[in-house]
Amino acid sequence: MSKVAIVYHSGYGHTAVLADSIAQGVRDAGQTPVLLKIEGPAQDFAPFHDAIGEADAVIFGAPTYMGDVSAAFKAFAESTTQVFYTAAWKDKLAAGFTNSHSFSGDKSHALASLTIFAAQHGMNWVNLGLAPPAVTAAERGPDTLNRVGSFIGLAGQSDNVSPELSPPAGDRETARLLGERVANAAVRWARGAQPALSEAA
Ligand SMILES: Cc1cc2nc3c(=O)[nH]c(=O)nc-3n(C[C@H](O)[C@H](O)[C@H](O)COP(=O)(O)O)c2cc1C
Repeated sequence: MSKVAIVYHSGYGHTAVLADSIAQGVRDAGQTPVLLKIEGPAQDFAPFHDAIGEADAVIFGAPTYMGDVSAAFKAFAESTTQVFYTAAWKDKLAAGFTNSHSFSGDKSHALASLTIFAAQHGMNWVNLGLAPPAVTAAERGPDTLNRVGSFIGLAGQSDNVSPELSPPAGDRETARLLGERVANAAVRWARGAQPALSEAA
């Protein structure tokens, strides 16, 4: 069974909703999600480093604050310097998600930061893999998948209401599909790393 770590920060609970939906997608693919919630910048991240080391794939998530990942996520990223020197996460699969209030809100910049972070660790990026919605702006609604039309990762949009109400169903389902996609990719990736039958015989 493949393990998919979901490392995320959520100041007010909206990004956490997407993390939970991603975990459900991993389960739906028959694999094991490992949810690692960043509580704040002063946290001891060593247990997270170990858990990621044991995972086949990692999905990084942060709310977009001031046009980039939150400071708490950035603190986690900077805590991985020693891991960087040992290249311990090289060739793992990685993917990313963010969430913010505006439709754009410069979410793509936060996703680019997550992509670069994964690339610095030599990880292989799995994109969202969902076409932007082929609907008119008037038809776009809370159930629309990939509602804001993102390619490199999941971009959720939350109103300033309780996380129970927002992000809406379409964003949650998009998150679930990302979890499924990464879990399926992790299984294929692990299978490809097995010795060929001719070598194993
Ligand atoms: C410090 C701060 C900065 C923010 N900057 C942005 C931003 O650049 N773009 C945006 O669309 N929303 C921005 N927001 C709104 C949040 O992204 C939005 O409320 C999001 O749902 C918060 O996710 P969370 O509940 O997981 O913390 C910001 C919120 C805070 C607190």
